[in-house]
Amino acid sequence: MVDVKKIAVVGSGLMGSGIGQVALMGGYSVVMIDIKEEFVDKGVAKIKEGIEKVAAKGLLGEGQSAADVMAKCSKNIDLANAVKDCDFVIEAVIEKMDVKKDVCKTVMDNGPDHIIFTSNTSTMSITEIGKESGAPDRVCGMHFFNPPPLMRLIEVIRSEDTSDETFETAKAAAASFPCLRGDRYIAPVLKDAPGFIVNRMNAPVQIYLSWCFDQVDQKGLDWVQLDADAGGKMPMPPCMLTDFVGIDTMYHVMSYYQETLSPDFKQGKVITELYESGNLGEKTGKGFYDWSQGRDAIKSKIKGAEPAGLFDLNTTFAIMLNEGCRVLDEGIASGFKVIDDANMAGMNAPGPFGWGKRNYENAANILNELADKTGKNYFRPIELLKSGNFSKMRK
Ligand SMILES: NC(=O)c1ccc[n+]([C@@H]2O[C@H](COP(=O)([O-])OP(=O)(O)OC[C@H]3O[C@@H](n4cnc5c(N)ncnc54)[C@H](O)[C@@H]3O)[C@@H](O)[C@H]2O)c1
Repeated sequence: MVDVKKIAVVGSGLMGSGIGQVALMGGYSVVMIDIKEEFVDKGVAKIKEGIEKVAAKGLLGEGQSAADVMAKCSKNIDLANAVKDCDFVIEAVIEKMDVKKDVCKTVMDNGPDHIIFTSNTSTMSITEIGKESGAPDRVCGMHFFNPPPLMRLIEVIRSEDTSDETFETAKAAAASFPCLRGDRYIAPVLKDAPGFIVNRMNAPVQIYLSWCFDQVDQKGLDWVQLDADAGGKMPMPPCMLTDFVGIDTMYHVMSYYQETLSPDFKQGKVITELYESGNLGEKTGKGFYDWSQGRDAIKSKIKGAEPAGLFDLNTTFAIMLNEGCRVLDEGIASGFKVIDDANMAGMNAPGPFGWGKRNYENAANILNELADKTGKNYFRPIELLKSGNFSKMRK
C-alpha cells in the first residue's frame, strides 16, 4: 500500500472543506486547492471553524489544539505545483466530466509516481475520469456523504482500471478519517455503476414519488394528504422531503438515471411543472409548500390532514429491496449486509434486506401491482428477489 502522509483536496467548496477537515483530523498534512484565492480562503476558513468547534468539545486527539491541527493545513491555487509532494488526492470540484478529467490528468502529470487520485463524484464514471490520465490504475472513487464530518459512510469505488494497491490504499485512508457521529463505515463498491450503492438503491423510489405526486394532482387532492399517508413514520414525508432536497435536484437526478438506468425514470407532470416554474422547494421559499412560516407550520397542517391513501412505506421498502437485489446481481456490492449497513451509515435509515428476508414474496406482489398500475416495468421484481436467493448473499 502507498504510505499516505500528505493529501491534496481539490475544490474547496461545500464537500471539499468537509473532506479537508476530516483529513486533518485524521492526522494528515492537507493542501486545499481551488481556482481562485477567495474560494480557497473560504474553504480554509470553514475548516478552521469546524476544527475549533471539535476542539471546544474536546474531541481532537490527546493534547492537540485546533492550532496544532490547522498548522498542517496549507492552500494553493496552482494544482500542478501543489501536488508535487502529495501522496493522495481527493477531488471535489464541480460535477463536470471535462473539468474532472482535466484535474485528474494534471495530477498524474505533475504528482510523484506513486500518487493516488480519488474522485468524490456522485454521478460520473470513475473509469472515464481516469481513462486518459496516463495512470488509470491509480484512480478510484471516494464518495462522501454530506456533511463528511458527520455522515459515517464513505463509498470507495473500484473502476475498470483501479489496481488492488490503489483500492486497498483508498479504503485504508477513508477508514482513517474520523467521524464525529460514530464509527466510519467504508463500503467497497466493486463495480463502477450509476449511483454506486446507496444512491442507486434509493433511486427508483423517486419514480414512485413522482407517480404519487401526479395522482394527487389528477385526483384534486392536497399535498398534505399525501404526506399524511406516511403516518408520522418518516422524519420528513414525501412532499416535504422533496422540497427540502430541492425540486431541481430531484429533476436532475431523474434525468441522469433516465440516461443511465431506464427511461422509466422520466419525471412526471408535477415535478416538471414545479421545476420549470422555479418553485424549487425550501431554498426558494416555495415548492409543494409555502415555507415562509417554517417547518413546524407545515408539519402541523400534515398532522390534521385526511390521508390520500396513495403512498405506502412498505412499497418503498419493496422498491429498495428490488434495487438492492440488482446491486447484488450486478456484482456492485459483495453482500446484502454491506448494502444495509451502508444505507444506515449514509442515510440514517435501515436498508431493506432485514425486512425483505421475511417479506420477499409479499414484496414481489407489491412490485408487480405497482408496475401494473404505474405502467413502469422497472418496478417488476427481478429473479433474485422472487426466488428469495438474495438471502444467501449476506457478506
Ligand atoms: N453536495 C453534496 O451533497 C455532495 C455529496 C456527495 C458528493 N458530491 C460531489 O462533490 C463534488 C463537489 O460538490 P460541492 O457540493 O462541494 O460543490 P461546490 O460548488 O460547493 O464546490 C466545488 C468547488 O470546486 C471548485 N472548482 C471548480 N473547478 C475547479 C478546478 N478546475 N480546480 C479546482 N477547484 C475547482 C469551485 O470553485 C468550488 O469551490 C461534486 O462532484 C459533487 O457531485 C456532492
